[in-house]
Amino acid sequence: MNYIDSTVISQHQLTEDIFVLETERKGADAHAGQFFMLKAWERELTLMRPISIFKADETTLHFMYRVVGQGTRKLAELKAGDPITLTGALGTGYPVEQTTGHVALVGGGLGIPPLCQTAKELTAKGVQVDAYLGFRDQLFALDDFEPYCSNIFVSTEVGEEGYRGYITDLLKPGQYDTVYTCGPEVMMRKVAALCAEQKTPCWCSMEHRMACGIGACLGCSIRTAEGMKRVCKEGPVFPAHIIF
Ligand SMILES: Cc1cc2nc3c(=O)[nH]c(=O)nc-3n(C[C@H](O)[C@H](O)[C@H](O)COP(=O)(O)OP(=O)(O)OC[C@H]3O[C@@H](n4cnc5c(N)ncnc54)[C@H](O)[C@@H]3O)c2cc1C
Ligand code: FES
Repeated sequence: MNYIDSTVISQHQLTEDIFVLETERKGADAHAGQFFMLKAWERELTLMRPISIFKADETTLHFMYRVVGQGTRKLAELKAGDPITLTGALGTGYPVEQTTGHVALVGGGLGIPPLCQTAKELTAKGVQVDAYLGFRDQLFALDDFEPYCSNIFVSTEVGEEGYRGYITDLLKPGQYDTVYTCGPEVMMRKVAALCAEQKTPCWCSMEHRMACGIGACLGCSIRTAEGMKRVCKEGPVFPAHIIF
């Protein structure tokens, strides 16, 4: 396991429980849909926590995360100048290199952050990107998507903004060459079904509790149509037809 001794550059609180942590990149590789294991503690917690790449530029990495437990609570306490240990980038991300034409990115909740770096990489290679972003109530990250998207469609389940309902109600996969999705499984299952009806290729990013993050412990294995796959190694991004 290669550990990167990095430093926190900034920490911003977006909502009551959503934060963006910016760290030094230290020359690490970082591609759309990949993740890093993060650790900012010594003894209290042993395992590092997986967080997706929200944005990567030449010298920094941004991680957007929701505080749900001990590890993310510790991350939220970090301030500029604090040390942080990273491992990554890990996993197999979205197939940006083989994607062309017009792409829909469909994200829900904390599945939205990895789609921002994805939008950036797709746009850089001339792909036209539309984002479909589903929130429960409060919106976040829209400004980050704007530079890379031709259209941004927004829905809230109980909020006041955008379409009132599920983001999948707005998606017409027949208009796209490829669809990438990340978010709650129930949402990705619906996206995969809509894409299958239209024969539009669909890629989904799976989440699983992780121990090692590097393919060694098999703890994150999931059953697929092509056998057991490790979310941290063969994934987190998979062709939707082998998952749903
Ligand atoms: C590849 C990958 C990328 C991820 N990217 C992001 C991201 O960009 N932003 C973000 O906010 N979160 C992301 N997550 C989820 C994040 O890793 C967990 O929320 C985090 O590890 C929780 O750690 P904790 O110590 O705060 O919570 P814990 O104290 O370990 O657990 C608190 C609660 O959260 C639940 N939980 C913990 N981990 C997961 C998980 N992986 N999936 C579902 N429920 C979980 C537990 O069951 C428990 O109820 C990602 C997970 C994976 C596998
Ligand atoms: S977390 Fe150990 S194999 Fe994936």
